[in-house]
Amino acid sequence: MSFRHKHIIALRDLNKEEIELLIATAESMREINSRDIKKVPTLRGKTIINLFYESSTRTRTSFEIAAKRLSADAVNISPSTSSATKGETLADTALNLLAMKPDIIVMRHAVSGSHYFLANKVSCSIINAGDGAHEHPSQGLLDMLTIKDKFGRLDGLKVAIVGDITHSRVARSDIQGLTKMGSSIFLAGPPTMMPPGVEKLGNVTVCGTMKEAIQDADVVMMLRIQQERQGKTLMPNTREYSRYFGLNPTNLKLAKPGAMVMHPGPINRGVEMSSYVVDGDQSHILKQVENGVAVRMAMLYHVSGGGSVE
Ligand code: NCD
Repeated sequence: MSFRHKHIIALRDLNKEEIELLIATAESMREINSRDIKKVPTLRGKTIINLFYESSTRTRTSFEIAAKRLSADAVNISPSTSSATKGETLADTALNLLAMKPDIIVMRHAVSGSHYFLANKVSCSIINAGDGAHEHPSQGLLDMLTIKDKFGRLDGLKVAIVGDITHSRVARSDIQGLTKMGSSIFLAGPPTMMPPGVEKLGNVTVCGTMKEAIQDADVVMMLRIQQERQGKTLMPNTREYSRYFGLNPTNLKLAKPGAMVMHPGPINRGVEMSSYVVDGDQSHILKQVENGVAVRMAMLYHVSGGGSVE
């Protein structure tokens, strides 16, 4: 099967087979990452621009490493050092970058849907590294790869997602991906952080309490409160938040024995999760980060048209 998309903007736009193809490709890319010399010539001569209008540690580094492992030339641009601070529009920035003939622009932007706008303006491929509260497809894919590593499958699992669902692009991509693969999602969070109608996205249940969501869960995915996206603070205080929606060794026992604990990072230790859980045996958080490189290699590879990997 070949990948027919020029851009990867949202997991909503991909079908089950396409998601499976990206995950399978990431699985084979992992072998390159374990070599002594972690580089193959697959994307030699391709130019990739990482255009990040929002801060990032994992995603940007991971896309850059992924590009370099495939021998592409990767250039990073951040808004504080770009002409965005001088009033240039996104469309103008993109057209100017395009004049330098990149093959792929990987962008993170605070505005939901900005990647669709950009894809209509430029001739190169666009990969979404996170747009506002809309989607974060590479995170959704790396989460699925990490879950598949543990269970050997992505169907029939109970996945709890807890926290600020309203502002989480990670939650939306995880919901889109995991429900297409046949798993059930159980959401919990303060009512002020639960988007109305979210259950319409597929096999999604909104739970009244965190206990209900994590009871017998195979996977417990915790989210950060996206304070930067909340116009005003949506919770009385962090201590109260942790009491009702924080994961600790006691409430983790409600999940299935050996359930996976996940978090996209950055973690606010002691708020959404206690350090015992972050650093505990059930945590797969660093495995998520590790898988991120292989997933992004697979994404760059497929939007470039595939071909042989040496
Ligand atoms: C997430 C993001 O930026 O959406 N982080 C990430 O990419 N690993 C989640 C977050 O910022 O809380």
